[in-house]
Amino acid sequence: MNMNLTLKIWRQKNASDKGKMVDYKVTDISPDMSFLEMLDVLNEQLINRDEEPVAFDHDCREGICGMCSLFINGEAHGPDRAVTTCQLHMRMFKDGDTITIEPFRATAFPVVKDLIVDRSSFDRIQHAGGFISVNTSGNTIDANTIPINKHDADTAFEAATCIGCGACVASCKNSSAMLFVGAKVSQFALLPQGKVEATDRVLNMVKQMDEEGFGNCTNTGACEVECPKGISLENIARMNSEYLKASLKG
Ligand code: SF4
Ligand code: FES
Repeated sequence: MNMNLTLKIWRQKNASDKGKMVDYKVTDISPDMSFLEMLDVLNEQLINRDEEPVAFDHDCREGICGMCSLFINGEAHGPDRAVTTCQLHMRMFKDGDTITIEPFRATAFPVVKDLIVDRSSFDRIQHAGGFISVNTSGNTIDANTIPINKHDADTAFEAATCIGCGACVASCKNSSAMLFVGAKVSQFALLPQGKVEATDRVLNMVKQMDEEGFGNCTNTGACEVECPKGISLENIARMNSEYLKASLKG
C-alpha cells in the first residue's frame, strides 16, 4: 500500500543562514521506492508549487560513492543496517509516519545548503597520506607478482570498502573521524605496497584529522554500528598501533 508521510526537513539557505526544521507532506509513496526517490517525489511536488526544492547530495545511488549523507530519525543513513541512504527503502517506514531528516552534523562538516554538507575535510586527510607512490615510468611491477597472505589481503580489502560517507563522524558524540582514518591507514598498513610510506602516512593523516577539528575517540562504538560498510573498530586499534610505532621511530 502506498504511504502518505510527514517530513520534518532541515532547511538552510547557505552556510551563514541559521536554518530551521520545516514540515512537508508527501503523498502516494511506494514502499519499493528508495529514500532518495521519495525525496525526488517531494521535490517534484515543491517545484510544481513554485517552492524551492530541498538540496541533498547523491551520485551513484547504488551504495558506492558515499555522497548520500542524511541523518534520518536520529541515525546516519536511517533505520536499516549496512546500507547507505540511497539503498534505504521506504518499506522501512509505515503509512502516516513522521520522518525527521537532517544533514550530517559536525564542526568539520559545515552545512552548504539544506541537507548538503562540505566533507572536503575528508579529502584533505586523504591528500595528507591516503595513497602509495608507485613508479609508473614503464617498469611498474604488477601487484599480483607480490605474494600476500589471504588473511592480510582480505582484511586490507575490508578496510578499503570504506566509501568516505562520514556516517561514523555524524554518529559519534565527539564527531571523531577515527573509523574513517583507521580504515584508510589500515588498507595500506597490511600490504607490502603500503609499508614504504607507512610512518609518514599515519603521522600526516592523524595530524590533518586533528587540524580539521574532528573530536577524539572515546570508544563508544556508535561509528561501527552506523557504518554502512561494516568497517570494524579493529581499524582504529590498528591505526593507534601504527601511530605509536611511527611516533617511536620519529
Ligand atoms: S568508516 Fe564507514 S561510516 Fe565512516 S566514512 Fe567509511 S564507510 Fe562511511
Ligand atoms: S548516492 Fe552513492 S552511496 Fe548513496
